[in-house]
Amino acid sequence: MRTSRLVVLLSFLLVGTQMMGQSGFITNISHRSGISLDGKWHYIVDPYETGYYNYRRQPYDQLEQLNREAYFADAVQKSKMDRIEYNFAQTPTLQVPGSWGMQVQQLFWYEGTIWYQRKLHYNKPDGKRLFLHFEAVNYECHVYVNGKKAGTHKGGFTPFDFEVTQLLQNGENSIVVKVDNTRRLDGAPTVNTDWWNHGGITRSVHLLEMPQTFIRSYKLQLGARSFSTIRGAVQLDGPVAPDLRVRVQIPELRIDQTYAPDREGNLSFEIQPKNLSLWSPQNPKLYQVLLSTEMETVADQIGFRTIETKGADLLLNGKKIFLRGISMHEENPVSGTRIASESEARMMLAWTKELNANFVRLAHYPHNEYMARLADQMGLLLWEEIPVYWTIQWENTQTRALAQQQLTEMITRDQNRASVIIWSVANETPVTEARNRFLKSLVDSARILDPTRLISAALEVHGGGPMHKVIDDPFGEWTDIVSFNQYHGWYGGDINDFPKIRWEVKYPKPVIVSEWGGGALYGLRGDSLTLWTEDYQAHLYKKTLEGIANIPGLTGFSPWILADFRSPRRPLTHIQDMWNRKGLIGEGGHKKLAFGVLQRYYQNLKADEPD
Ligand code: GCU
Repeated sequence: MRTSRLVVLLSFLLVGTQMMGQSGFITNISHRSGISLDGKWHYIVDPYETGYYNYRRQPYDQLEQLNREAYFADAVQKSKMDRIEYNFAQTPTLQVPGSWGMQVQQLFWYEGTIWYQRKLHYNKPDGKRLFLHFEAVNYECHVYVNGKKAGTHKGGFTPFDFEVTQLLQNGENSIVVKVDNTRRLDGAPTVNTDWWNHGGITRSVHLLEMPQTFIRSYKLQLGARSFSTIRGAVQLDGPVAPDLRVRVQIPELRIDQTYAPDREGNLSFEIQPKNLSLWSPQNPKLYQVLLSTEMETVADQIGFRTIETKGADLLLNGKKIFLRGISMHEENPVSGTRIASESEARMMLAWTKELNANFVRLAHYPHNEYMARLADQMGLLLWEEIPVYWTIQWENTQTRALAQQQLTEMITRDQNRASVIIWSVANETPVTEARNRFLKSLVDSARILDPTRLISAALEVHGGGPMHKVIDDPFGEWTDIVSFNQYHGWYGGDINDFPKIRWEVKYPKPVIVSEWGGGALYGLRGDSLTLWTEDYQAHLYKKTLEGIANIPGLTGFSPWILADFRSPRRPLTHIQDMWNRKGLIGEGGHKKLAFGVLQRYYQNLKADEPD
């Protein structure tokens, strides 16, 4: 067997084991049985964390008996002499999913703890295992059911769940979630970011009703360089009876195989499909995949394609491709809120299609799961990223573990999405030995977790001089794609000189310019010599597009950014007003002149592409 195939096969087996070994969360929850817990939740703002610590700052969590002040106890007044100083039933409510700062004016700037609580009248289904699944909570949360701890999670953009089978009771239940969005030096991200710190239960919540033994996660993908073999792995959760079998069907390909898991509930397999129609932006072909045991059937829609590099070329299904991209935050420019619905995500991706883009860089953290599912359907390629952003604490082992956890969660959730071609492990991180070690460990993990996709990160550029830019960031040694952000004409430099810049890229790899652009206030008109006008931004786009092809190995770019977004770093009154104005679409959803400049450029590129 050729070495590369052996490596891929071994990594799949390792992936199989690795994936099987993950405690992980239940994947593909839109196709699982259960109930939604979205809607109105009561809340108490708790800046001193009175509900979590007693006055000696001892966490109530560790006390034997529940103390009446502990908000998770959700104590109820039983007699006139009961001293209780909180009562969820009388408090206002917040919409879940959603960020608190965009729902309640007084919480606009709030960073700290807020307690969420809702009642759940429930009849426990016989024989089912019950899981509370959160698609994301920003940033740290502690979850309680009927006063008992269900679990805790850190990281604001990835899913998690806790088994609550023994905590829920028939009849009335109380679910309490302590959410704290305080930025932390040792966090991922750390305290300094150029985006809004939207706090809250920002994505949907589900109560999942699972069989005693169920399919927790699975993966079906073409090998990195193989059109003929689909490699798969399945992870079960629960007791594995000797006669338990997992059936894998792809009806349209007339595939119907059954496999025996090992004692730990893991299995991996290979399938040689006939007449496979490969997924691509021009042909976003998705197949119905059914995974079943005698206790459940999990359905999914999966596209099959390969993505690889060959020298400085990026190959999709073996053919060279150019990424006509755009960057995007997960924020709706019309409302200025965290995107919290599929319809908002569809609006954002529809704008990228209107731009004639085929590639979206989802910055700087994993977006909602439906973003990747919609991209699968719409034929858009995606870059997904964990929030290892700027000045992370590189020497802190907890920080590294947290970054690793978010990387694992992102890959576990989206590893079946054909649209996702790149995992990014960082953005604009200053070059030090400690940073290189930190990022290298993430790359090594990503390659084991998913050998079928490419790894990148926005690397550092250093100037050989104002007209000579050098990309020789040591981290470029380990990534498949060399990506970097550059802002000539905005953070320095005369944009009219851009076409004359000499570029030097140390690595013979595909290159993506992962950010470039400039700010403009929608509706502010002037000329190409006046900053913050739409005219200057359009001129910056024109001059950049004139010279960007001079970059060796250029295989695509994703200008910064599709839409204006909120940022506490952008205070310029009457121009920014706490918004980053580099969007091609302004606050309120209005297109700026530069949108048309990029749209026409991509239209011409698209016209020259082979079908
Ligand atoms: C950086 C960074 C972005 C930021 C942008 C800007 O490149 O990656 O997160 O918003 O520059 O300055 O607008």
